[in-house]
Amino acid sequence: MSDYKRILVTSALPYANGPVHIGHLAGVYVPADIYVRYQRMRGREVLFVCGSDEHGVPITIKARQQGCTPQDIVDKYHSIIKKSFADFGIDFDIYSRTTSKIHHETASEFFRKLYDEGKFIEKESEQYYDEEAKTFLADRYIVGTCPKCGAEGAYGDQCEKCGSTLSPDELINPHSAISGSPLVKRKTKHWYLPLDRDEAWLRQWILEDHKEWKTNVYGQCKSWLDGGLMPRAVSRDLDWGVPVPVEGAEGKVLYVWFDAPIGYISNTKELLPDSWEQWWKSKDTKLVHFIGKDNIVFHCIVFPSMLKAYGDFILPDNVPANEFLNLEGDKISTSRNWAVWLNEYLEDFPGMQDVLRYVLTANAPETKDNDFTWKDFQTRNNSELVAIYGNFVNRAVVLTHKYFEGKVPANAKPELIDAETMAQILPIKEAIEDYIEHYKFREALKEAMNLARIGNKYISDTEPWKVAKTDLDRTATILYTSLQICAHLAIAFAPFLPFSSAKLEQMLCLDCLSWDVLGHSEILPTGHQIAPAQLMFAKIEDAQIEAQIAKLQATKAAHEAAAKAAAVAAPAAPKAECVFEDFEKMDIRTATVLEAEKVPNTDKLLHLKIDTGLDQRELVSGIAQYYTPEEMVGKQICILANLKPRKIKGIVSQGMILMAQQPDGKMRIITPEERLMNGATIG
Ligand code: MF3
Ligand code: ZN
Repeated sequence: MSDYKRILVTSALPYANGPVHIGHLAGVYVPADIYVRYQRMRGREVLFVCGSDEHGVPITIKARQQGCTPQDIVDKYHSIIKKSFADFGIDFDIYSRTTSKIHHETASEFFRKLYDEGKFIEKESEQYYDEEAKTFLADRYIVGTCPKCGAEGAYGDQCEKCGSTLSPDELINPHSAISGSPLVKRKTKHWYLPLDRDEAWLRQWILEDHKEWKTNVYGQCKSWLDGGLMPRAVSRDLDWGVPVPVEGAEGKVLYVWFDAPIGYISNTKELLPDSWEQWWKSKDTKLVHFIGKDNIVFHCIVFPSMLKAYGDFILPDNVPANEFLNLEGDKISTSRNWAVWLNEYLEDFPGMQDVLRYVLTANAPETKDNDFTWKDFQTRNNSELVAIYGNFVNRAVVLTHKYFEGKVPANAKPELIDAETMAQILPIKEAIEDYIEHYKFREALKEAMNLARIGNKYISDTEPWKVAKTDLDRTATILYTSLQICAHLAIAFAPFLPFSSAKLEQMLCLDCLSWDVLGHSEILPTGHQIAPAQLMFAKIEDAQIEAQIAKLQATKAAHEAAAKAAAVAAPAAPKAECVFEDFEKMDIRTATVLEAEKVPNTDKLLHLKIDTGLDQRELVSGIAQYYTPEEMVGKQICILANLKPRKIKGIVSQGMILMAQQPDGKMRIITPEERLMNGATIG
């Protein structure tokens, strides 16, 4: 910290296409908030900037699905997200949005400067186009069958079923999600940021000068750099976003990952129109980006390259990205509604923000993906917050009222054990500092909890409620010491659990305490009046946890049912184009079923004898679940007569019956509208 005068903290701008969930909080916003609160308590000049990321294709898709405009979508979620952050005490200096006028101007000017200075490459490329909807198609708007797992409805950039990253060319039967029409390619012009030209300085800056970055971040950067960087398109054919400020670029907008990080700058500008440059352009500002692991390349490579190309801007000092948080063993997913939404959490656990902050920090995915379970949530609340921290504070405050009218008693006999106890505080303070400065928030929180453990053990071992019967002086010493520890706890926990610290300060009748007093034994002077005890943490009952688990299970069941219904309703994807000659090869004709019986030891197969007009032959067909042998006899059917014979269950099957089949499996034979001769050709 030493060389810096101020700290600019950003946290990833969440997409305004859904509310925020515990994964967002654990990965990005709680650690950023802890860091900021801690730095502020140390008296450092800090600015904490965030806002909604309101552009990009998923927002336009959501709008299309809901029959409203993208602006309606972002208006709705911007306010929900903003409120959730405020509710959880995420203490931004500004939470703005990328649809603001100032952002559009800033992003536009940023692009235009790089454009004017020839920092982009201009390139024509072929992009998928939907001729019916008359629009270029973003990868998300292309759907087809996943080549990896065979799921229908995989997107051109990803299969949600198996999680594979895809490109539209890999999809089987790709088609437009807007009109369903097949894809054609059209030429279109775009601007590219030539990242390859930045490779040398990026290697030096990250791999040599920032070896202290978290290993997950450093490792990802190294593998990108070792793989070789390529120019990246910074524009898109889309009608939602910041228009490309170049003549002849109608219908094109800045790529969302170009404009969004500029949002950090626009939002600073919005808050501090006169002094924003000091935060962004002064070498004595420390810039720290808090993000999730999917954002690493944009914050460590792309955005720095943009800033450098523009000139004057500082680069981040650190990018402490976290891994992902899973929920009850499954990946959190907005589309599957597999998440704990912050707004819903607060409905079920009103006033219990700190419990979630505590559990998410104690279990933060700092070095690897981690799992949130409701059981663990309950255990950490009941056996740590309630049984240790809350229990200790409650005993100290209640006994002070019982024996000393709520006044901090005089430390009548400062005996050795008390000094020893107090001496443990300073090393804890230093450990917390060291951990937080190194972005190790779980460890830092553990230290704070250790202090609560020390307090709780002290009061349990010394048993002031018993001592009071014989020795009030000794009781005074114990409670004096305990209350001092309570005051220290209010400070030590303040960055992590701001609501509880505020409550504890109220109980102790203390004003906002500075970090520096931590470890200096007397915070509460003798005779200081404290307020009545309030409950800091409440026990969470099994029934509450069971209700949450049941809610998740219901979500899963509902999602599976909806997926099934959608599969039934949606026809199979279209097949690739074929030519007439392909069709002509097939000898399709009418025939009549003469005999039918089940193939022994099978459920699905019927053994049929048919008259094709040319001959009588046998075939095996998988229709036994839909037709009984009796129903089939006498029916006129259509067959593919020249299909190469195949042996099925020991029977040589000569041909195939044409059937219509729905996605749910239901089948019906195809029959001419009126009975024809056998052997009539079909085509
Ligand atoms: N909206 C992005 C996400 O949720 C993050 C954008 S961060 C910014 O993954 F740098 F672009 F702002
Ligand atoms: Zn798949």
